[in-house]
Amino acid sequence: MSSMSGESKIMPPNWHTTDVSWYKKDLPEINESARKILEQYSGISPDGITSHLHEVRTQAWNIFPYPSIGNWHFLHLGILEQPRYPEILERLQQGQKLLDVGCGFAQDLRQLVFDGAPAENVYGVEIEKPFVDLGYDLFLDRAKIPSANFIAADIFESDSEAKNLFGSIDIIYASQFFHLWGWNNQVEAGKAVTKLLHPARRSLIVGYQIGAIVPKEHQNSPTKEGKMYLHDRTSLQKLWGEVGEATGTKWMVEAWLDEAEIFSSYVKLDKDVRRISFAIERME
Ligand SMILES: C[S@@+](CC[C@H](N)C(=O)[O-])C[C@H]1O[C@@H](n2cnc3c(N)ncnc32)[C@H](O)[C@@H]1O
Repeated sequence: MSSMSGESKIMPPNWHTTDVSWYKKDLPEINESARKILEQYSGISPDGITSHLHEVRTQAWNIFPYPSIGNWHFLHLGILEQPRYPEILERLQQGQKLLDVGCGFAQDLRQLVFDGAPAENVYGVEIEKPFVDLGYDLFLDRAKIPSANFIAADIFESDSEAKNLFGSIDIIYASQFFHLWGWNNQVEAGKAVTKLLHPARRSLIVGYQIGAIVPKEHQNSPTKEGKMYLHDRTSLQKLWGEVGEATGTKWMVEAWLDEAEIFSSYVKLDKDVRRISFAIERME
């Protein structure tokens, strides 16, 4: 992934440049699920969608130029591809709570609400508050999801607003989140997430991120830390073993690699790269 090396944790003055392989100037044909949400949930007219998306994307890129913004991945409703999606929806309808960690625009929370999850049972934690505001601008749903359900907080910070949710969450959704760090900080992120979970329930952590056939810690990545640990199933189980040891919990990791279209541009840079999706369940 050598050409992902242009940005490191010390960002160069031109780090918002759009001259990077993951910045796609034009909006690709958007997937049917995203179109449905924008039209039916947000009420945007079909011919207004393209300009609406460009406007929001430009603002987001200026906040932090994540590849997932440059390449329009925020339109990918990954939660729909989770085999346990029907179970997740049912659990929310029964009163359980889901938190989207590093939610960005929180597109998947909108999908859940669109599909009938009670809005009061979905939460988002996001370090960049402007992304939360842009999520509302994107989906035009300030009247549907209470703003109190979005917490602007750094997951690593133990004394943040997210503290009010400690011990109360049943399901964590983590999309393109844990891969923002190398191994050590992924363990820290896992420990932080564990604090949010209800201590006595069979909690579940689901999501997806960039993985690899042969696990490795990628250096000089376009993340703040400049590292990304790319997992296969075995390394992810090992990582959650470390999280478990540190927190007195036990986790069973189900994970699977595939060649998802959304990460295809990374595969061109490193043939080992795949998407890894996971369902990590608390056993004790
Ligand atoms: C690659 S984006 C993915 C956003 C969204 N989950 C998605 O799949 O479209 C990662 C998100 O995590 C947020 N983030 C990064 N570090 C964080 C932290 N320490 N605490 C909370 N959120 C964080 C970023 O601001 C960003 O919105």
